[in-house]
Amino acid sequence: MLLIIPFHIPYISGKENEYIANVIAKKSFSGIGDYHHKAIQLLKGLTKVESIYLTTSCTSALEIAALALDIQTGDEVILPSFTFVSTANAFALRGAKLLFADIDEHSLNISLQEIERLTTANTKAIVVVHYNGYSDNISQIKEFAQNNNIFLIEDAAQAINGYCNNEHLGTFGDIGCISFHETKNIHCGEGGCILVNNQNLIDKIEHIIEKGTNRLDFLKSKTKFYEWKDLGFSADMDEIRAAFLTAQLEDIQKVTNQRMRNLLHNLSQLQNVPNRLQPDYLPTEKYFAQTNAHILWGLSKNREQLIQNFKTAGITVYSHYTPLHLSSFGKQFYESPLPVTEKVSRQIVRFPVHTKFSI
Ligand SMILES: Cc1ncc(COP(=O)(O)O)c(C=O)c1O
Repeated sequence: MLLIIPFHIPYISGKENEYIANVIAKKSFSGIGDYHHKAIQLLKGLTKVESIYLTTSCTSALEIAALALDIQTGDEVILPSFTFVSTANAFALRGAKLLFADIDEHSLNISLQEIERLTTANTKAIVVVHYNGYSDNISQIKEFAQNNNIFLIEDAAQAINGYCNNEHLGTFGDIGCISFHETKNIHCGEGGCILVNNQNLIDKIEHIIEKGTNRLDFLKSKTKFYEWKDLGFSADMDEIRAAFLTAQLEDIQKVTNQRMRNLLHNLSQLQNVPNRLQPDYLPTEKYFAQTNAHILWGLSKNREQLIQNFKTAGITVYSHYTPLHLSSFGKQFYESPLPVTEKVSRQIVRFPVHTKFSI
């Protein structure tokens, strides 16, 4: 029988059951419990950021960011088209005018030149996506955003334990948003966190997460009662998920090392497979060394055939994003073709990272 190698297998540390049983024994299930604090301590240790909040998803973290920046109708936001819909949706929800930037063919991230091209007097925010937990230009983008008084948001959904110049991704901009969806290196089913690097945004973000109230001040005994302070919604992660996430965060380095070993093994296998299974382009090992080994990707001009050939060999491989500027909803923001985005979107193939395979 043909062995089917799945695209992804969510990580399990083995401690999740014990930690969830502790939550059940304590009978305290909503947010801001013991595991919530443990998970945040672990994230602080990893990222060196002081103000971190657990959220229900990276999507809700991005929505918090858009609300915290007080985006108004017509404010312009620069972002990639080659991304997951949540990057754009969060800002479209607040009435922003989205300006899609093209990506660089090698990093798959937006370039500073594209940001400069799209910047106007109405630019309120730049949202970068660290595709595959990789960035090589975030410091330059940060400098540009600061010099031009523009907010910088990092969609670091894929970037837990990913670095640029030894600094954790998500720590450069005013706000960083990370995902703990089960498709990520570590997870809690659905979850995320928001890293707040701009001190001026902290009060507002604390209100937004707590349904628009100052409940967090109340929990810290800074006020005798709490009340409605701002617009907000329910974005706090519950204690069961925080317990699951704590078990996963404790293993973050082990998971990254294991994934990197498997990624490099699979990359070398891909360089040697027969023609019918070989992508036209693969990033070099050096590129992956700076990532958290989230995605092993390549480009193929005959993608459908290549995906079919891998399927026949029992290996699940996938394409990736449909460009947002060509999507049925996103085309309302279409301004001009984005040649690299469109080419990459047609040609990209993602291979399994978690499991060794040979052909
Ligand atoms: C770039 C990017 N942004 C945002 C998200 C949304 O993350 P979540 O599923 O945690 O809401 C994803 C999910 O894969 C993503 O890849």
